[in-house]
Amino acid sequence: MKDSIRHLIQQALTRLTQDGSLPDGLSPTIQVENTRDKTHGDFASNIAMMLAKPAGMKPRDLAQKLIDALPEDPSISKVEIAGPGFLNFFQNSAALAERLDAALDSPSLCVNKTGPTQRVVVDLSSPNLAKEMHVGHLRSTIIGDAVARVLEFLGDEVIRQNHVGDWGTQFGMLLAYLEEKPAAAESELSDLEQFYRAAKQRFDESAEFADRARELVVKLQAGDPDCLRLWTRFNEISLSHCQKVYDRLNVRLTPEDVKGESAYNADLADIVEALREKGLLTEDNGAQCVFLDEFKNAEGNPLPVIVQKAGGGYLYATTDLASMRYRSQQLKADRVLYFVDQRQALHFQMAFEVARRAGFVHPEIQLEHMGFGTMNGADGRPFKTRDGGTVKLVDLLDEAEQRAYELVKGKNPELDEAELRRIARAVGIGAVKYADLSKHRTSDYSFNFEQMLSFEGNTAPYLLYAYTRVVSVFRKLGTGMDGLPGTIHLDAEPEQALGAKLAQFSEVLNSVGEKGVPHVLCGYLYDLAGLFSSFYEHCPILSAERDEVKQSRLRLAALTGKTLKQGLELLGLETLERM
Ligand code: ARG
Repeated sequence: MKDSIRHLIQQALTRLTQDGSLPDGLSPTIQVENTRDKTHGDFASNIAMMLAKPAGMKPRDLAQKLIDALPEDPSISKVEIAGPGFLNFFQNSAALAERLDAALDSPSLCVNKTGPTQRVVVDLSSPNLAKEMHVGHLRSTIIGDAVARVLEFLGDEVIRQNHVGDWGTQFGMLLAYLEEKPAAAESELSDLEQFYRAAKQRFDESAEFADRARELVVKLQAGDPDCLRLWTRFNEISLSHCQKVYDRLNVRLTPEDVKGESAYNADLADIVEALREKGLLTEDNGAQCVFLDEFKNAEGNPLPVIVQKAGGGYLYATTDLASMRYRSQQLKADRVLYFVDQRQALHFQMAFEVARRAGFVHPEIQLEHMGFGTMNGADGRPFKTRDGGTVKLVDLLDEAEQRAYELVKGKNPELDEAELRRIARAVGIGAVKYADLSKHRTSDYSFNFEQMLSFEGNTAPYLLYAYTRVVSVFRKLGTGMDGLPGTIHLDAEPEQALGAKLAQFSEVLNSVGEKGVPHVLCGYLYDLAGLFSSFYEHCPILSAERDEVKQSRLRLAALTGKTLKQGLELLGLETLERM
């Protein structure tokens, strides 16, 4: 709707420019917002205020001229001038109701991508395999998954890439340990954390072991078959730990999506060579670097992107350049999204720039770092176990499920054990995910079990429960949400408010996909659930006097149910029919 209003305004501007009322060469960004207070219409634009000065007119006079020049549109019932010169658009409720009817009868709920569909590579999760997944990997995994789902729903072709850290010096230490104690190592590998600690301890206490570790890295990099076998074995085990976490989190990642750092080994020498040919390389203390003038340190000296160490080793940035080239040239991506900690922002800005200058990527490609803030403990301090260690993701999920179990059992003591466990899983895992997804991506946040498991406020339990309430309306009636007779009419105020919100679903998903912001979808679903509550309270459905009214309200309820379910699924939450 906002887009079509923007389009109407654009047409009016063109008319006014052609008849000389407006000077040539104005090309403003036309802003259209949803209004909060529906007495002021449904949408507002400040365009007249923005253009008044360059047009040499009073804002309200220009607003009137625009209204006169606006083409007729059946979905707009009237346009008014408000305050200093806002244009307020009132939507025609019959036209709105028609759109909702169409959405209810379409499997996509009439969600469309605004721009052209694209091929999008989503770089997500990407843990380092030397250690077990810890809480730091939650965000890159679930935010990336949610955005990938939304893009797929909008019609994009999404390629998920799990750029795991499966290469590097720490592997020498792990291999040395595997070699030293093959039997013990096999059993200890079931707990990667412990395995890593044991290897690290050997590394620190024995100079001989440390030398052996360094030797093994060199052998590994030279492709020694025995080393490669140990390394492969280690990675398989580590990846199977990750896969268990993905499955449990209901995240769409499979072993096929893994394309780790080691996959680019064979390309690294060529990347450095290509940079040299382009004249981008500078040697600094024996290391091969690219200096970019626009990136400077505090003293004003240019910062380097180091692509090869003095000893010949390659770095994180080199691998990323190789993966950018692969994603652009082999995968033919139009867009690549990186769901990686905000603290790597500079790394990505610099690597993107080098990739562009070197011609590794297509000039039109969109490279975007979707950085995220840190997840802290409930006290706002870094999230640690009691003894100061990193919190394992599996332990966190276990606790979430256990707490949800107590909660659900307290509310529904009559449910059998299997049912309780199933609900507890959806609520517990959903709560952890939703609490994270509902926060602004770039801000830090405090992890708080009490808050995320509350049935009040913008939480998973609240929304999952809201959905079951809609379902229960249809259960009472003995029908599903499909193939309902009648049409929607928006008469009472709560019906209009609910209807207007429902009509925003497509536009909300478009902004989630464009900006990588699942919290916008969370906020939308929360508002929707609230509007459904007041509709449900004020507009009787099953006891409505006339059949026509009952049918209309049922259809509105069904569209709400479908939108909630679809929205929660796009966030990667499992919905329940009752809880
Ligand atoms: N393995 C890295 C880490 O744990 C994240 C990798 C992100 N993706 C990338 N293409 N650099 O910090």
